[in-house]
Amino acid sequence: MRMTWDSALSVGHDDIDDEHQQLIGLFDLLRSEAAGKDDRSVFEPILVALVDHVSGHFGHEERLMAELDYAGLARHRREHIEFLGLLTMLSLGLDRGLGTLSDRVLRLPRHALIRHIHGPDRNFAAFALDRTGRA
Ligand SMILES: [Fe+2]
Ligand SMILES: [Fe+2]
Repeated sequence: MRMTWDSALSVGHDDIDDEHQQLIGLFDLLRSEAAGKDDRSVFEPILVALVDHVSGHFGHEERLMAELDYAGLARHRREHIEFLGLLTMLSLGLDRGLGTLSDRVLRLPRHALIRHIHGPDRNFAAFALDRTGRA
């Protein structure tokens, strides 16, 4: 599974890109630390940090959208909630011993994040840059 940041993931907005890089870095770390290990104590702190960073990032995007009266805010927020739901299900599943944090388990949230960056985030970034004239 490859997820490491590359410029194809850039949405053209510096602050948002920086935060996306952090998220992807945490996904990469989660993967490298969890690979082949059943020990939750190894990856638990990274999973917690990922949820924290995702929550903070989503809040940041939504504040920017509100400031710019972005018409897509409600729909975008629903996507954020769905993504947080995926991470919550992942965490609960691990709590209940339903599996280990493998590549297979990380595939769905990873795919969802990339799809979100390429779609709704890129759309909003283009709108924000058009409105504010800066990256
Ligand atoms: Fe977003
Ligand atoms: Fe984002």
